Amino acid sequence: MTKVTFERVHKAFGAFVALEELDLAIRSGEFVSLLGPSGCGKTTTLRMLAGLEQPTRGTISVGDRVVNELPPAERDLAMVFQSYALYPHMTVAQNIEYPLRKRGVARAVRREQVLRAAAQLQLEALLDRKPRQLSGGQQQRVALGRALVRNPAAFLLDEPLSNLDAKLRAHMRAELIELHQRIGKTMIYVTHDQLEAMTMSDRIAVLDQGRLQQFDTPLEIYNRPVSLFVAGFIGTPAMNLVKGTLKADGNRLVFDAGGLSLELPPALVRRDVLREGGIAVVLGVRPEDVLLATDGERATVKVVEPTGHESIVFFDLMDHTVVGRVGPDVRLAAGEPVGLTLNAAKLHVFAAEDGRRLNADLQPPATQAAPSLVA
Ligand SMILES: Nc1ncnc2c1ncn2[C@@H]1O[C@H](COP(=O)(O)OP(=O)(O)OP(=O)(O)O)[C@@H](O)[C@H]1O
Ligand SMILES: [Mg+2]
Repeated sequence: MTKVTFERVHKAFGAFVALEELDLAIRSGEFVSLLGPSGCGKTTTLRMLAGLEQPTRGTISVGDRVVNELPPAERDLAMVFQSYALYPHMTVAQNIEYPLRKRGVARAVRREQVLRAAAQLQLEALLDRKPRQLSGGQQQRVALGRALVRNPAAFLLDEPLSNLDAKLRAHMRAELIELHQRIGKTMIYVTHDQLEAMTMSDRIAVLDQGRLQQFDTPLEIYNRPVSLFVAGFIGTPAMNLVKGTLKADGNRLVFDAGGLSLELPPALVRRDVLREGGIAVVLGVRPEDVLLATDGERATVKVVEPTGHESIVFFDLMDHTVVGRVGPDVRLAAGEPVGLTLNAAKLHVFAAEDGRRLNADLQPPATQAAPSLVA
């Protein structure tokens, strides 16, 4: 079994720092996604693990072995690239068997392993075709097959689904999850698609500008983002983020943003972060935590976007645009007045100055009072 460890791994290209002091301990058999916007250092991280790039400093281990000085071929890792990199003149079968042939594996054994990989990836009918006669998804499966027959200690996958259309992506996503469950190997998966990371991963490492922001389970990252960046990056539609001032007023906790004044659950943030006169914060509320309520604060419907199974609704709440999601049977029209409340158990507070999360550990939802909006 194979754990993968990065210890204080740093990568600079000249004066440009692509990755800053990365610490990451991936467990044996885990499916971990590296997630972040373009240029945040995902591919660089994977390439250093594969041995295609040297870290400036720091230690990378596969299992209990430090691999910094090992050439790529001796690291026992299989990397699948976004471009698949199939050999165009070889058939599907020859492409899949190539790593075995290079290793000098006997013909009969090669045949057997190619057939097994082809069965796992539903490629049996395509074994005699050339790559140009395959769809994107089929080519992608061949690239996976070639990685599978190597039986590596871990798989490194760099945006392997990014060339596929939406439907095929969803299909391959499910197939990859199933494959991981079946073979139980460590998989490190690079993506900038947060839905992909959320649905596939045991844990997600969120990167921004070369810095690891959070490494945790999808639900923990969704429910307790450690920073404003993570909060805004994870979730579609994105979390509502409202800048304002947070003040303690006796036992009450009050958030003010222009004409909007909210009384928040007193235990929402640690008292020691509050200062006399209040602190600048960003209040975060996910769209599903914006609730219609006849006795709620008055708001106006601006835009309704039906998606079929729900509608995304843009509200005007005291000159702040707030996004909510409602069920398919809720009929709302632009210009319509509504009442809104926020789910008190699911509010997020971040420091405006550095974006760090200020929430104290939340109480169970039942013990929390609903936030009342004070005009
Ligand atoms: N060989 C190189 N020389 C100089 N800069 C590089 C080199 N390789 C990568 N970089 C820079 O390092 C940063 C991280 O690159 P990387 O390819 O890891 O990003 P990424 O997260 O994979 O992005 P994407 O989602 O666009 O693939 C980028 O700003 C990139 O321009
Ligand atoms: Mg990349």
